[in-house]
Order: sequence, then C-alpha cells, then structure tokens
Amino acid sequence: MKSIEEQIQELKAQRGAVILAHNYQLDEVQAIADFTGDSLELSRKAAQMTEEVIVFCGVHFMAETAAILSPEKTILIPDPNAGCPMADMVTAEQLRALKAKHPGAKVVCYVNSSAEVKAESDICCTSSNAVKVCESLGDVQILFVPDRNLGAFVAEKLGKEFVLYNGFCPTHERIRDVDVKAMKEKYPEAVVMAHPECSRPVRELADELLSTGQMCHYAKASEKKEFIVATELGINYRLRTENPGKSFYPVNPDRAVCPNMKKITLEKILWSLQDMKERVTVEPDIAARAVGSIQRMLEIV
Ligand code: 13P
Ligand code: SF4
Repeated sequence: MKSIEEQIQELKAQRGAVILAHNYQLDEVQAIADFTGDSLELSRKAAQMTEEVIVFCGVHFMAETAAILSPEKTILIPDPNAGCPMADMVTAEQLRALKAKHPGAKVVCYVNSSAEVKAESDICCTSSNAVKVCESLGDVQILFVPDRNLGAFVAEKLGKEFVLYNGFCPTHERIRDVDVKAMKEKYPEAVVMAHPECSRPVRELADELLSTGQMCHYAKASEKKEFIVATELGINYRLRTENPGKSFYPVNPDRAVCPNMKKITLEKILWSLQDMKERVTVEPDIAARAVGSIQRMLEIV
C-alpha cells in the first residue's frame, strides 16, 4: 500500500500542482511541501509559480492573497476553516469608521487581514517588511491595522506615533515574559529571537525581533549555537532540520500553538487534490481594489 505522502506526490504531479506551506504548519506538512516560507515569501512565490494549481497550506488570508495576485490560477486550501482570529478582529466597516476619524492618515494593513480590509487600505505589509513599508510613506500619519504589537514595534523603530488598532494574535499573546526570563537564565548564551506579534514585555526581552522567514535566515547565518525561540511552535521544524549543529529552545511549547495552522493535515491535502477543493476565490470588485495594496508592498522589498 502506498503511503499518504506517496499518494499526495502522485496526485500532485497528475494535477500539475505545487504545495506551498507556512513555517507554522505541522512537521509532516512542511516535509512534503515544495516550498516553505513566511507570509511575504509565500505571496511572492505564489505570484511567480507557473503551475496552474496551488495547494496552500496555511490560513485563509494567505490563500486569499494568492488568489488576489493570481486570479487565473486554482488556489486550494485543504481546510477552509483554517482562519486567523487576528484577521477577523477588524472588518472593512470598522476600518471605514476609523478612516473617517483620521482623514489624512495612510492605512497600512498587516497581510493578516481580509480581502475587504485590504481593499480599504493604502498598502499592506508583513512582519518582515513592515518597517520599510511604513518608512516608504514618508512624513504622514499612519493608521495601522489590525496588529497592535507589530504596529507598536514599527512605530518605535521609526520614532513615530501611529494610530494603532487593538487587534492581536491570540497565539503570540500566550507567550509569557516570565517564561522567556526563566529560559534566559537557563540558557545564558542563547540568542532570544521573538516575533513582533509578541506582547511588549516579551519584545523587550528579545535580542532580535524577526518574521519567521527572517528567523530561519538569521539562525543559519549566525555563529551562535543556541537560540530561544518566541513564536509559534511550528517554526522549530525548519530551524532544527536546517541547522543540525545548533539548539533551539521554544518558549511555551505547550501553548504557543496556533490551532488554525494545525488544521491542515496530510489527509486533508490528499482530499484537496482528489476533489480539487476547497477553491479560494475573491469577488472581482474586492480583488480589484485589494490587489493594489498588495502589489505596492511587493514593489517595496
Ligand atoms: P510571518 O511568517 O510572516 O512571520 O507571519 C507570522 C504569522 O503569524 C502568520 O500568521
Ligand atoms: Fe493568526 Fe496568530 Fe495563527 Fe498567525 S499564528 S494565523 S496571526 S492566530
């Protein structure tokens, strides 16, 4: 009997499909993916792919971004219920109300947002390019949605005051500063890498604030041998497999787990390819307004 991995590979070739996976996916999903990366790397990759079919192993807004950039391709998500609670924290209506309150401001939206919110924004950003994106706007007021933590991190970096929306990632909020402190005592030589979605007390304890893709590049290039990792647990698969001589210590491994990212399983990937489901599409008028804010971001870095 063929293994599930073999069945996926066979069907993937028949369908002319490619499998993209986010760095927070289950280990076995990352292992069968053609490309694994952070939000920015995945949106760039999705736009470049020549394959007709993309199986997007991540959460819904990521597949939606790929669908906006490549409406002619078939974008499949193995579980349509893999959403992002942070993205759901702001609606287009709420954003319109905020814009009316701050008419001169430019709206920067984290890609962790719906297509409707992107359609209301001037430009998107991810955690790896947020500083450059906001810097590119010059001396204007910035209205940043939905992540209060990433927004505060960028505002501090640029020495500016932003209008911050009060959204957050429930998974990153579960990472506690007391636990980072305890790990620093246990591993005094380790570099602390934290994601900017972490709360301020955790960010203040970090040596480096990095997107998941940046963490992979940083750990590879560093001469250090030990790393304390304050982000979702799934990133440790790549960190460990790509850096055999180095040690990675996840903070709060029992609770820094995104339940939505973990909804994608090998079985669902196989079903997705068998049934060509669930297809992610975006209404053309929304996509037409959202594509500009994504493309403006992609042109920057
Ligand atoms: P990055 O992979 O871009 O760092 O994003 C983290 C995240 O929370 C995605 O949902
Ligand atoms: Fe959303 Fe946080 Fe999960 Fe990323 S880790 S998908 S931001 S809930």
